[in-house]
Amino acid sequence: MSGAGVRRVGVVGLGTMGAGIAQVCVQAGIETVGREVSEELCERARGRIAHYLGRGVEKGRLTGEERDAALARLTTTTELADLAGCDLVVEAIVEDLDAKRELFRALEGVVGEDAVLATNTSALSVTEVANATERPERVVGMHFFNPAPVLPLVEVVRAERSAPEAVDTAFELAERLGKEPIRCNDTPGFVVNRILIPLLNDCVRVLDEAGVSPQDLDKAMTRGVNWPIGPCALIDLIGIDVHVHASEALHAALGEERMAPPERLVLMRDEGKLGRKSGEGFFVYD
Ligand SMILES: NC(=O)c1ccc[n+]([C@@H]2O[C@H](COP(=O)([O-])OP(=O)(O)OC[C@H]3O[C@@H](n4cnc5c(N)ncnc54)[C@H](O)[C@@H]3O)[C@@H](O)[C@H]2O)c1
Repeated sequence: MSGAGVRRVGVVGLGTMGAGIAQVCVQAGIETVGREVSEELCERARGRIAHYLGRGVEKGRLTGEERDAALARLTTTTELADLAGCDLVVEAIVEDLDAKRELFRALEGVVGEDAVLATNTSALSVTEVANATERPERVVGMHFFNPAPVLPLVEVVRAERSAPEAVDTAFELAERLGKEPIRCNDTPGFVVNRILIPLLNDCVRVLDEAGVSPQDLDKAMTRGVNWPIGPCALIDLIGIDVHVHASEALHAALGEERMAPPERLVLMRDEGKLGRKSGEGFFVYD
């Protein structure tokens, strides 16, 4: 099936990423079934999507009718069986290999023969997720970036046994969603995190080595290299816990010291200084 043939998308896990991905799908005119583990979480996700679509109306990015039509395309459920009619399912549950493998095995028994199964994992092996299924050729990675409705990149990941048609379907769907996808192999960190995580860790180590303040480090990289955002502000935006977790996963996969999270970040995480979301990281937020 081509990406143009995808009529109904399933999203499993409607947390930060899943809700954003479901929003992008319904805004692109695609019927979407979102699955959460409880009615309460379904309602919370629906409320968040309605909120962000409403903000879009306030900012003039879409009309009230377009918002209502987008919301009408969203169905939420707690039953995996309700994903039966989906042509492509994006999984966005907890970053845990066993949980993802179990889910993919279950999904296989629910969706049709031709359906493509995609994982939004950031740091796990797509191949290991795929190998839990009877037909790993239909499994790919679709790595959206946070916030999914805002950032255009999607890394479409070829696992070892992904069929080219499945990769093409995911790529074409990403384009239909208004994204700018790239294709890449299933290597640890894929493209962006493989480069960004050690780079940001180097930046944090320079804070102590060069005796420079977070303000001045950010000034150095925005004024000297024309980065659109400084490294400390970027880590605060990503979330220090998310960055430390991703660093640990890459370090475990590649064994390179630069991948390991710097002590300073681990301490901040342990103290609950998680960046923007907790109100304090390198900088303080209102
Ligand atoms: N947050 C990010 O910046 C980001 C960016 C790109 C990719 N990712 C990846 O996306 C995935 C989801 O991340 P998130 O930040 O949205 O997480 P989250 O915690 O916000 O949401 C996960 C959701 O999945 C549900 N869930 C958890 N375990 C489940 C299970 N076993 N079965 C079914 N549902 C389950 C939870 O109810 C929750 O709502 C992870 O694989 C993560 O690595 C995250």
